[in-house]
Amino acid sequence: MATRSALITVMTRAADKAARRLRRDFGEVENLQVSKKGPADFVSAADVRAEQILREELSRARPDYGFLMEESGASPARGDCERRWIVDPLDGTSNFLHGLPHFCISIGLEDKGELVAGVIYDPLKDEMFAAEKGIGAYLNDRRIRVSSRSRLNEALIGTGTPFKGHGDAATFLAEANAIMAETAGIRRWGAAALDLAYVAAGRLDGYWEHGLSPWDTAAGIIMVREAGGFVTEIDGRHNRSHTPDLLAANDALHAELVKLLRVGRKSVIEPRRTA
Ligand code: IPD
Ligand code: CA
Ligand code: CA
Repeated sequence: MATRSALITVMTRAADKAARRLRRDFGEVENLQVSKKGPADFVSAADVRAEQILREELSRARPDYGFLMEESGASPARGDCERRWIVDPLDGTSNFLHGLPHFCISIGLEDKGELVAGVIYDPLKDEMFAAEKGIGAYLNDRRIRVSSRSRLNEALIGTGTPFKGHGDAATFLAEANAIMAETAGIRRWGAAALDLAYVAAGRLDGYWEHGLSPWDTAAGIIMVREAGGFVTEIDGRHNRSHTPDLLAANDALHAELVKLLRVGRKSVIEPRRTA
């Protein structure tokens, strides 16, 4: 940001520090790919280490704020404070584990249940996305906006796919069918927070996913909103902060994507009803 607020400076500093560690650990994971044991335990430890660094840095700067962290859970704010950090220390764990260079740190901040700031940092590309309520969204020091594409046939849409033991494949495939038929294509990058940052930066025109957790989306939701985009439930209903089933898009395409996804879902629900 041109003049970074004290709050965003706290968040970006914490992300920077944890990222230094993640970058080193990612180098080690690349070596472990060929070892017999594989990198799984090492990656879980890397995840926890990054979270510890974030907790230390954020609580040193703002001792009263509470936390909701993916690995260590919730801890309440102190005294009258009604703010809490919502943190994913490593979003894109499967990518990290496989040596795929696409993952990030995500830090959101809630005040009385409302999202007020977010930082998403991709340590390998050195891309720091930051947003604060009423101030806008930034990539490094440049202001970002959602894309201005208004034609579905030019739009690229991000998503997350079900995998073994997670999600409803039939619903996803029906929704994906409807989206594929009308758009320029789908991307599944494997880091939900970065998908949202990419919508904010106009790289993706929309993004939907079911079954997300607050730490996947807290920073991304404020990022997209401050970049001029819409974030709602997948069926288009308004949501104030967290929702597990989320649709984000530029202002021009959001309503059309709601319709397409609904048409897709109906194709799964209807045959069951008539059976
Ligand atoms: C996951 C990633 C992935 C998304 C999953 C998330 P994790 O988070 O964001 O892209 O599809 O829904 O759980 O486990 O890598 O922190
Ligand atoms: Ca995540
Ligand atoms: Ca994670």
